[in-house]
Amino acid sequence: MDKFVIRGGNPLGGTLRVSGSKNSALPCMAAAILTEEEVVLENIPQVRDIETERKLLTSMGAEVELGYGRAHHRTTISCRVLSDPTAKYEIVKTMRASSLVLGPLVARTGMARVSMPGGCAIGARPIDQHIKGLETMGAQIDYEHGYIEARAERLKGAHILFDKITVTGTEDLLMAAVLAEGETVMENCAREPEVTDLAALLTAMGAKVEGAGTPTIRVRGVDKLHGAKHRINPDRIEAGTFLVAGAITGGDLHVTQCKPAHLAAIIAKLQECGVRIEIAGEDQIRVRSEGQLRAADISTEEYPGFPTDMQAQYMALATQAEGASLVKENIFENRFMHVQELVRMGANIRVDGRTATVRGKTPLSAAAVMCSDLRASASLVLAALVADGESILDRVYNIDRGYERIEEKLRGVGAQIRRMGNVF
Ligand code: EPU
Repeated sequence: MDKFVIRGGNPLGGTLRVSGSKNSALPCMAAAILTEEEVVLENIPQVRDIETERKLLTSMGAEVELGYGRAHHRTTISCRVLSDPTAKYEIVKTMRASSLVLGPLVARTGMARVSMPGGCAIGARPIDQHIKGLETMGAQIDYEHGYIEARAERLKGAHILFDKITVTGTEDLLMAAVLAEGETVMENCAREPEVTDLAALLTAMGAKVEGAGTPTIRVRGVDKLHGAKHRINPDRIEAGTFLVAGAITGGDLHVTQCKPAHLAAIIAKLQECGVRIEIAGEDQIRVRSEGQLRAADISTEEYPGFPTDMQAQYMALATQAEGASLVKENIFENRFMHVQELVRMGANIRVDGRTATVRGKTPLSAAAVMCSDLRASASLVLAALVADGESILDRVYNIDRGYERIEEKLRGVGAQIRRMGNVF
């Protein structure tokens, strides 16, 4: 199992290029199920979850060509043949986002068999909203041997009101609705840029979608969709992680090929902490800090609020800010796995239910730490960049799920970080 060895203390300087968004790419790849024609996706990140989704689609009979080049990452997906509309347990257990194939499979083939995702490191994460929505659209749902089976000769347009805002739930039902008979109105939808990105692809494929990015999405179902080419949005969470890397190390970084508008909540919070941020162009942000950080509270919310996917990284920063920062996690019930590892590095953090109180500024000392989920791992990388000495991060496969060659990118701006494989 690979590890990262990180020696802290270097202020980062230079340019960091942001890759395509994993959480946009995953639903967009699933959307290819909706057509017999080819879907070409550009700017797909080279990360483990994308490889898992490739496996998932090919296990159903699709052809997926992941092309990674220096200049372009281009993926071509053909779902002309879908011989086995099943998302097997072996794949779903490694990536919950596999449940994104549920809606498009029923819509295209009339049938889907998807393993029920079990519990997860960051919370229970049920998919009841996906299932309830499909039932409202006329699907017959059965549960057998740990699998959900959904059947519908043709889904019917419906009025869907989400009880809870869910990103992949919105995406899954949006993909179901585009081929349904008649109009679907979905209310209390997620407004994340990933939903808007998916809607843009679906529109390019011939779908009739209005209101993506707002709480109400209207879809007029069509009989057939065609192939399309689409460029995936930059990853706002990778960009946010890089901004924190610049801020926490007292560095000066240009974060390029990002969309500053998607980062508004993160930028505002970093500015409140005393970090200097300049929007240096349509797709560039400059982040600077002399290391004088002030404490500020965050509360995670659905977009456009402060993202839960940046909570752990922000907490690493808060350990280096003067004063007490309250960090409230509202989206997932168990997303503080990084806390104990940060404490082992010298952070002063107390957790009470869904709120963590971080008291800074504490010097961090290098340690051997364990990466749990993806964002917790990113938080430990950030902490290690300012810790005194050499930290060893175990289980970095968690970081490889969603960050493209993070060690190479960080090394390029002056971090002392290297990957070690199979050190035992
Ligand atoms: N929820 C339900 N019922 C449902 C669906 C969700 O109760 O049917 C609950 C969840 O348990 C959670 C909350 O609603 O408490 C929000 O979950 P949501 O469905 O929005 O999360 P998700 O779609 O499973 C996506 C991202 C996550 C990100 C969340 C929140 C993808 C592939 N994943 O997950 O990304 O944290 O939205 O923004 O888009 C990550 O990249 O590290 C990551 C975990």
